[in-house]
Amino acid sequence: MNNWRADFPILSDERYIYFDNAATSQRPKQVTDAITRFYEQDNANPLRGLYEWSVRATDDYENARSAVAEFLHAKKAEEIIFTRNTTESLNLVAYSYGLSHLNEGDEIVVCITEHHSNLLPWQMCVKKKGAVLKFFETEPDGTLTEEEIRSKITEKTKIVAIGHVSNVLGVTHPVKKIAQIAHEAGAVVVVDGAQSAPHIAVDVQELGADFYAISGHKMLGPMGIGALYGRMELLEEMPPFLTGGEMIEFVTREDATYAEVPHKFEAGTVNAAGAYGMAAGIAYLKQVGFDAIMQQEEKLTARLLAQLKELPHITVYGSEDPAKHSGIVTFNVEGCHPHDVSSILDEDHVCIRAGHHCAQPLLQYLGVNATCRASMYFYNTEEEVDRFVEKLAGVRKELGYGS
Ligand code: ALA
Repeated sequence: MNNWRADFPILSDERYIYFDNAATSQRPKQVTDAITRFYEQDNANPLRGLYEWSVRATDDYENARSAVAEFLHAKKAEEIIFTRNTTESLNLVAYSYGLSHLNEGDEIVVCITEHHSNLLPWQMCVKKKGAVLKFFETEPDGTLTEEEIRSKITEKTKIVAIGHVSNVLGVTHPVKKIAQIAHEAGAVVVVDGAQSAPHIAVDVQELGADFYAISGHKMLGPMGIGALYGRMELLEEMPPFLTGGEMIEFVTREDATYAEVPHKFEAGTVNAAGAYGMAAGIAYLKQVGFDAIMQQEEKLTARLLAQLKELPHITVYGSEDPAKHSGIVTFNVEGCHPHDVSSILDEDHVCIRAGHHCAQPLLQYLGVNATCRASMYFYNTEEEVDRFVEKLAGVRKELGYGS
């Protein structure tokens, strides 16, 4: 019996199997209650008003910043910038740091496993600045070797942008080692933490990350709120990304000076309710604990991988080791398009993702156009895994195959 499920109202409908947690997690009542509390009790525009409600809204927002800073082990709360999501965080770094630091011929290194959100912003920099984009290639199971890291990072490397955990293979990349090698070469390290922060304890200082991007909605928080950690020295010398609102110090007809970090990077009315909800999600995650999260994910993954091995016509991608999946199992059913597999499973209320998972270069490397992806979280159960495999076993017959 999974004790946490009772806190997630949407999971009370036992007909559904939600295995699309890498796309977005579900939210416990503690998170939706926090958002409601903000709007019902503290709502006013934060950072502007001098009256009580606005001060309370500002406190909620700034306390949430401290909660995220503590969660990522940042040195100071001011090193956390609230954004809409990981994608916006990574764009902020590319537009602000990238465009102001890159010159022609400079190199940016990403990995073949990148989500498009940690690829397209760097392609933009390459086009605008005449820089060069290089790729770490992985082993077939997604493993990135030290030899490969050392072969791609050179004295020309200015930025290494790496997804901590792949959203397709679930593999965890050795960010600490990458940062050490990148720093020796004088490059900064940008980490896409969208798929890691929900599953493993993150310490940006211990990892040596210069920037670390996360999304609230993948870690029990609301949609539309995310964060970027940036090392203070870097944030201070970076130009703003978006302008307007309270991100200023002083404005004349022709020019403006900007507020201090982090507000310099938070143009317009901020998503204080979202930040407050994200902090509630973090509090919940802390209560569950990352040891318990990893243990449950590994148990479920081991069970799923073992059962998939017994099924004919299934190809699983990634490591054979359940501990190296972060709860993500990507597979194909021979002769069946992933969209058909997903649609047939949907008839039985099974929710998985099918397609290219916003990681087309990785799929090209794997030699496929699309895959199915089951992604599990700590509130999923062994019974759901068994039921999922039972349904999956019937898919080929539904599509007209003999077995
Ligand atoms: N990036 C999310 C996923 O991988 C949406 O599903």
